[in-house]
Amino acid sequence: MRLQEWTIEEQEQLIHFLMTNTWPYHGDSNPARHLIEKTIEDGGYQSDEVKTFWVKNEKQEKVGIVKLYDLHDEIPMFDLRVADLYRGSGYGPDALKLVVDYVFGLSQKKIRLEGHTRQDNLAMRKTFERAGFVKEAQLRKAWFSPKEDAYYDAVTYGITREDYLDGVITPVIWEEEIKKETQVKIPNFPDQFESERLLIRIPKIEDALDVWTAIRNSQEALSEWMPWAKEVPQLEETEETLREAVADFITRRDLRLHLFLKDTGEFIGSSGLHNIQWSIPKFEIGYWLSSEMEGKGYMTEAVRVISDFAFQTLHARRVEIRCDEKNSKSRMVAERAGYELEGILKQDAITMDGKNLRNTCIYAKIR
Ligand SMILES: CC(C)(COP(=O)(O)OP(=O)(O)OC[C@H]1O[C@@H](n2cnc3c(N)ncnc32)[C@H](O)[C@@H]1OP(=O)(O)O)[C@@H](O)C(=O)NCCC(=O)NCCS
Repeated sequence: MRLQEWTIEEQEQLIHFLMTNTWPYHGDSNPARHLIEKTIEDGGYQSDEVKTFWVKNEKQEKVGIVKLYDLHDEIPMFDLRVADLYRGSGYGPDALKLVVDYVFGLSQKKIRLEGHTRQDNLAMRKTFERAGFVKEAQLRKAWFSPKEDAYYDAVTYGITREDYLDGVITPVIWEEEIKKETQVKIPNFPDQFESERLLIRIPKIEDALDVWTAIRNSQEALSEWMPWAKEVPQLEETEETLREAVADFITRRDLRLHLFLKDTGEFIGSSGLHNIQWSIPKFEIGYWLSSEMEGKGYMTEAVRVISDFAFQTLHARRVEIRCDEKNSKSRMVAERAGYELEGILKQDAITMDGKNLRNTCIYAKIR
């Protein structure tokens, strides 16, 4: 296959080619003779910036035509058309490869070659792909078809000089680049710390039996406020949630913390920094205590030191505690730990029995 430059002497052949084939995806699907003649006269097929080539097959038949335009630009454009008779035989992709060779072989350096097509022109889209182009954009409803009075998506494909010379196809990098720019630096921090009486640390899968025992023994009290405590879990379920908690801690998505008595090593409850937004940074402290450990000020002690950890080590600007308006024990923890009640969200949740609406208190500390 080869490209052979079209000359003005072949005007009639070009007009015949354009008028006797169908162009369902072109703006003008049945171009009239006088319009083609006018375009030729105006240099629309041959000028300083435009060149038109016949696509010829091995038998020297003219199977198609390709027009290159904006040739003065560093980024030229093209229009490829294969005759009806020859469509579906692989000529499109081969012709486009020849166009790419031609453009990047020009003495003036071309940066890239690009083309646009209608979303449903699947033959053309495949043709782009076969010739090493990469899909770079899909503009929704950007392609108006006057004939159908309908809007289609427009799809843009491009090939860069570098890819062409290196013989590679580099995909477009989408979100990753943005993520890199906006990626928040998360400071290094220890996975355990202490208060006067407590060891506060990252969960471990080995904690499962202690956690499960505490939930089972405290289920009645917990189930009033904690949706996950409505039913006593199976030990395996507790293990599974711990696996997730450990993974989340390591990836910094969520920082669950287990609380132990320093003296005895006994597990007493769980807390942590949840609903994290590292970009601010802000956190929400949650907590529950094994029933037999209530009334000793352990949770207030834990919340104080976890808050300090959030503000000093994690550079928090805001830490929240949310609890049911009627959960007075939880509210006392927030208040004793120096949290300010910012407001009460009315009817923003449903009671555990599913029968009533309930209110949520928002406590917060900021820095
Ligand atoms: C678009 C055009 C240049 C493609 O050339 P072609 O020689 O017909 O292309 P091919 O037959 O080699 O088809 C190319 C690929 O598209 C696939 N294809 C063709 N028609 C398809 C369809 N309707 N649905 C899905 N895939 C289709 C082919 O199977 C082939 O894929 P493959 O490489 O996996 O086998 C040609 O069809 C044409 O001139 N169409 C009218 C003009 C036009 O639309 N030009 C583009 C304007 S932006």
